This record gives sequence, structure tokens and C-alpha cells, in this order.
Amino acid sequence: MRIDVLTLFPGIFEGYLSESILEDAIERGLLEVNLYDMRQWARDKHNTMDDRPFGGGPGMVLKVDRVVPCVEEVQTYAERPGRVVMLTPQGRLLTQRVVEELASEERLILLCGRYEGFDQRIVDILRPDEISIGDYVLNGGEVAAAVIVDSVMRLIPGVLGDEASAVVDSFSSGNRLLEEDQYTRPREYRGLRAPEILLSGDHGLVDKWREINRLEKTFARRPDLLDDKASDN
Ligand code: ADE
Repeated sequence: MRIDVLTLFPGIFEGYLSESILEDAIERGLLEVNLYDMRQWARDKHNTMDDRPFGGGPGMVLKVDRVVPCVEEVQTYAERPGRVVMLTPQGRLLTQRVVEELASEERLILLCGRYEGFDQRIVDILRPDEISIGDYVLNGGEVAAAVIVDSVMRLIPGVLGDEASAVVDSFSSGNRLLEEDQYTRPREYRGLRAPEILLSGDHGLVDKWREINRLEKTFARRPDLLDDKASDN
């Protein structure tokens, strides 16, 4: 899979890319991540990428005549143009289902905004998949793009070791329960004992205990996940 990240602040991303699992996946050729500084597409000596909003108001708006040529040029850098993803608090909410959808693409182009946002014509022309990572406002799309790279990468075959990928994750398709409580040595710490059943050696009982624990936990913390009508996750 190839992911191109378009940002005005590539530095925010660089440290993250050199982190263990990701770096390993890149080295093993399972994933290619390219960072592009959108300022390369600025056409003046001040590297202007944004301007004041028509109609007035606070903040600055990313310019259509800079961002569109940038995305269109980067699209030609590989055989296929890929799916353009715009990180914006106005997008559809990122869930594991959306992550699975993105992971099935051969190529993603992640477009990170700053300031007040993008000129609407960028959306009208590029028709990106607008995605938000949650109902809060970040300073820009970079952290959101890192969340996408992180969550998508885990689903690329071979990226995680067998052991880790065998773990049935809480939010994968068909599984809407939170994960059960986990314990390891010591058996007792400050008077708190790990549940005896987990030490019984009886796998049937252990499985039952885990199932009940998952249900109780989900019911207490995220009853919305138990709702049949909930279409996500
Ligand atoms: N940019 C600013 N806030 C964001 C959010 N919540 N999700 C995605 N991109 C953003």
C-alpha cells in the first residue's frame, strides 16, 4: 500500500514515521509512506498557501489554486490516482469500519489542513473522502492523518506478527464488544488477586469468564455498542 501525506508541516509527521512498527513495515516493503510539503506548490516568494476568507471573519483559508494543483500533481506520481482523504472536523467519523474500508485501497492521499480550513472549491473539484477523527477540533489534520496511517497499517497483511494479529480486536467487523480484563504475574499485588478461574487451567471456564467479562464491561461502559441498530464498528 502507498500513502502520500500532503501537509504544510511535514516535521510533525517525521518522528512518527521513524517509530518501530511503522518503520519496520516500511523497511519490509509492506507499506510506502511519502511526505510532501505543500509549500512546494506555493508560487510566490512568501510561500503563500492561505488567504483571508471572503466575507471577513477570523483565520485563514487554504487556497484552491495551490492545493488542487498540488494534489493533482502528486496523483500522477503513481500508476493510480488513489483515494483522496481530507482530514477535517466536518468529515464522516472514523470508525474501525472506515479504517477497514481505507485499508482495502491500494493508495491513499491524505490531505492535511490548517487554519480555518479549505476553500470549498477544493472539495468541489477533488471530491475527497472527508474524514474526522472525533468531535473535537485539532490545530490541523496532521495528527488525524497519523491516526489513519496507524490504524490502517495494522490491517495490512504481514505488518503485525502472527501473535498480535491473532488477537481479536475490540472493534474489528463482527465484534462489537470491548476486550476482557487482562492479568499477569504476580498473582496478588497490594491485596488484589487475579481471578482464580484464569489460573484454573480449565480453558472452557476461562473462555466463559472472558465472555461474561466482555459483556459486563461493554454494558457498563459502551452500551451503544450492544445496540443492534448501531451500524458502525
Ligand atoms: N482537523 C482539525 N480537527 C480535526 C478532526 N477532529 N479530525 C480530522 N481532522 C481535523
